[in-house]
Amino acid sequence: MEQIIGNINGIDFTLGDTILELSYLIAALFFVVGLKLLSHPESARRGNFFAGGGMVLAMFTTLILHKDAGGNSIQMTNVWIILSALTIGSVIGWIVARRIKMTAMPQLVSLFNATGGAASALVALLEFPNADMNNLGSVLVTVLGLFIGAVAFSGSMIAYGKLDGKVKDLFSGVMKYVNLLLLVAAIAISVFIMISGQTPEQLNWAIYLLLGVSLLYGIMFVMPIGGADMPVVISLLNSFTGIAAAMAGFIYGNQAMILGGILVGAAGTILTLIMCKAMNRSLLNVIIGSFGANSASGPGAEGGIMKEISLSDASILLSYSKSVVIVPGYGLAVAQAQHVCHELEEILSTKGVNVRFAIHPVAGRMPGHMNVLLAEADVPYNQLVEMENINPDMPNTDVVLVIGANDVVNPAAINDQGSPIAGMPIINAHLAKNVIVMKRGRGKGYAGIENELFFGEKTRMLFGNAKDSLQNLVNEIKSL
Ligand code: TAP
Repeated sequence: MEQIIGNINGIDFTLGDTILELSYLIAALFFVVGLKLLSHPESARRGNFFAGGGMVLAMFTTLILHKDAGGNSIQMTNVWIILSALTIGSVIGWIVARRIKMTAMPQLVSLFNATGGAASALVALLEFPNADMNNLGSVLVTVLGLFIGAVAFSGSMIAYGKLDGKVKDLFSGVMKYVNLLLLVAAIAISVFIMISGQTPEQLNWAIYLLLGVSLLYGIMFVMPIGGADMPVVISLLNSFTGIAAAMAGFIYGNQAMILGGILVGAAGTILTLIMCKAMNRSLLNVIIGSFGANSASGPGAEGGIMKEISLSDASILLSYSKSVVIVPGYGLAVAQAQHVCHELEEILSTKGVNVRFAIHPVAGRMPGHMNVLLAEADVPYNQLVEMENINPDMPNTDVVLVIGANDVVNPAAINDQGSPIAGMPIINAHLAKNVIVMKRGRGKGYAGIENELFFGEKTRMLFGNAKDSLQNLVNEIKSL
């Protein structure tokens, strides 16, 4: 038996307990510092190491020093099982993360998020038989952990399928009501579990019913979300996973899990609110689901003629402009054209052109996608201008160069109330004096709708893979 070195509120503390709690505090500090560093592309890598390091510290001190209520350490067999699971999970995660293409990163993030939700839901499910039914708080965290974790899991799996193009939007007017019904059913079952006064064994059916309803709700609320609204849902699911992990932490009374979960939940919630604001959506709509999807939405203004521009005309137009705004989008990431894009910007700058990048909050497929992409190519941060700051300058801009962007410059968001992107703020490329669009062909954007900007009077298309087109443009400008 370890020597007791103190007593707080009637609870005896051994040296091991103290070291364990201290390690949780250090881990929490690592999480906070990690989060802070993650807020800038230059320090994000270090941030990941800090946060991951905190997690590793908390896991290993728990394995070595954790004691149950009877003062017993974790059994050796269980330690080996945990270490084996950790090794298998880490190896799979490492291989998948190494192999994944940058463009598939958002899907991977959704998949990892799903596993976080599933882990928390499983903790709640497995610990329910041990719940103290006379302690409402203990039952509440178990029920919430199960509900939120299961929603995060099934919702993230659907989000993964959608981002990967494997799952299509499914929308019907009744889904809003079905979602509401499922939400009410989940709350009703949870309340029943809490106040029925029955034992966990007697409530076995109810907890599995809650699991089923929660999984179904996760699927149903992400299924209809389409158009440009996926980013909000992705960050919401991320915050769900954090909250579910915090609930699992409460179940075990583990400070590190509670703190880590709360930090992820809070960061995800803040991001969700920022996304909602950026997309002009209300959070309530997201939670009930099926917002953004609109039965009246059609393919958008179809047809019209797209005028092309030759390489030499494009290079002359750009070289003799005073002000050029580059709007990067998902296609820039697909083409991996960020480096040659930076080269173009540098050449134009040496010719005295004022070149800036207009950053839309949901351009690409994950929050901050364009910032990360351009930072990778060493584009100076002061040349990246947020949408709301660049839009007032649009009418004075000589050329807007749209590179692999589509939805984020689609005027349908302003002009067509039936559009799936209606109400979403856009970069007002259509107000510039000239627009050059680089894309491969007539492919649509994520929202799957036509873009009237491409048929506009002032717009000319430079068709081709963005990397090749940019390289050709750079060569052409060099030879001028
Ligand atoms: P998109 O609307 O997805 O348009 C990308 C365009 O790039 C396509 O029209 C495609 O046309 C073109 N393209 C693809 N590969 C190309 C290549 N190799 N070279 C040149 N062009 C290429 O992109 P966006 O404007 O960035 O908008 C993002 C969309 O994704 C929004 O609807 C947003 O809501 C959604 N979304 C965002 C996130 C986050 S968090 N950012 C998450 C999920 C969904 P072609 O096929 O003709 O080349």
